[in-house]
Amino acid sequence: MSRLTSTVIILETPRLQLREFVPDDVNALARVLSDPQTMRYYPTPYDRTGVADWISRNRWRYQEEGHGLWGMVLKSSGELIGDCGLIRQMVDGVDETEIGYHVRRDYWGQGLATEAARACRDYGFANLNVERLISLIRPENLPSRRVAEKNDMKIIKEVTWRGLRHCVYGIERPKAEVQQPSDLQSCKE
Ligand SMILES: CC(C)(COP(=O)(O)OP(=O)(O)OC[C@H]1O[C@@H](n2cnc3c(N)ncnc32)[C@H](O)[C@@H]1OP(=O)(O)O)[C@@H](O)C(=O)NCCC(=O)NCCS
Repeated sequence: MSRLTSTVIILETPRLQLREFVPDDVNALARVLSDPQTMRYYPTPYDRTGVADWISRNRWRYQEEGHGLWGMVLKSSGELIGDCGLIRQMVDGVDETEIGYHVRRDYWGQGLATEAARACRDYGFANLNVERLISLIRPENLPSRRVAEKNDMKIIKEVTWRGLRHCVYGIERPKAEVQQPSDLQSCKE
């Protein structure tokens, strides 16, 4: 039986498409989220039910919040190789929007997470009513910290989040450029 689902594409970068997850992505996403090495900074890797629930949760976020973690698809092959997106998180009593990312291990080190994270940052500031974006990262997760740095984020603080120490990386909404009087054409002309 095939399910009728249309592809909702959110973003494109030179090498990637970010699109909404569909239930049929469970096998491809399990190759990412069920891999013990990829998930070593998480309490446990996700089992198949956990991956299916994870997709449902993000589909709920698309409906309720207008965004979530999206599937990361390699344009050259059409393969789903990870996720990246924007999710709301309550951190220290503050309602924040986080850029999150996971990449299948055989694609690490090619700049794909950075490419997707930067696109999500720009999308977030263009489309969401937020003054800053964050990434929550375990201190020992050096590759993820590096992606945050390449996404122009700085450490704001360290928090205990869901029982584990996390660095909170953040970037503020860029200020709109103010035109100098000399740049303005006279209204009288
Ligand atoms: C974090 C993750 C998404 C990065 O994906 P990626 O596509 O390999 O990332 P990029 O290639 O864009 O950048 C990785 C950077 O980390 C660096 N890096 C890799 N291992 C490192 C290490 N042990 N110490 C320091 N830097 C490291 C790379 O050299 C690269 O930086 P560079 O471009 O300056 O050389 C991937 O490792 C992953 O899926 N990890 C597991 C899931 C996870 O932890 N997600 C984040 C949760 S907060």
